[in-house]
Amino acid sequence: MSNKFIWNFWAKHYENLWVQKVSLEPVRKSVLEEMTPLLCDNLKQYAILDVGCGTGQTLREIAAFFPNLQMTLTGIDYSEKMIETAKTKTLINSRIKYIHMDVDQIKDLKENYDIIICTHSFPYYKNQQKVMWDMMELLKSNGRLFLAHASVNNFYDRMVMFFVKFTTGRAHYPSISETIKTGIGVSKCLKRIEIKTSIYMPSIYLFVMGRG
Ligand SMILES: C[S@@+](CC[C@H](N)C(=O)[O-])C[C@H]1O[C@@H](n2cnc3c(N)ncnc32)[C@H](O)[C@@H]1O
Repeated sequence: MSNKFIWNFWAKHYENLWVQKVSLEPVRKSVLEEMTPLLCDNLKQYAILDVGCGTGQTLREIAAFFPNLQMTLTGIDYSEKMIETAKTKTLINSRIKYIHMDVDQIKDLKENYDIIICTHSFPYYKNQQKVMWDMMELLKSNGRLFLAHASVNNFYDRMVMFFVKFTTGRAHYPSISETIKTGIGVSKCLKRIEIKTSIYMPSIYLFVMGRG
């Protein structure tokens, strides 16, 4: 079964899955907290990209949290059902635009972003190093990448993620050092936050990265 088939299958019910409470929601909260100090200029036009945006929850929360900021919000995802669901959940006159696109093509966006977000999606990419390099190329020189994913760093993580794979398909959950290694030469890790909401969860990290 292909991974895309699985994401198409989950799309309609994704926002009601049990992982929302213990993993997805705490990560979105942490991303919002970390990006808030960066979005402080009311006169500036910010460009934000969410890679593997799913149903667009993160982008909708950002749009609602910063009602007065000028920003363009773009979400890309290769699952047509995720994009379809995202569009139905987003107001017609919203600042959010969704594009059906495989991450392998993100350089076609030909735009530079102040903020790129990639949450819970990186482990499913076939060539993680290429994606990291492409994201860094799309980032403005002082931009920030917010990258969050489950990270296998010990036996317990390995065991939990072995079972999770049955619901997500093929994945490689990089350890902390593997994630940082994918960006060697193009990025620097400015901050790393551990998100642990329950002992039943694996390690989840949010990496705040800049070009470098
Ligand atoms: C676990 S969901 C995460 C969705 C959202 N970012 C969140 O934090 O809730 C993983 C998403 O990555 C997308 N995805 C996986 N591989 C992809 C690829 N090669 N190109 C684009 N999107 C991809 C899936 O379709 C799915 O919507």
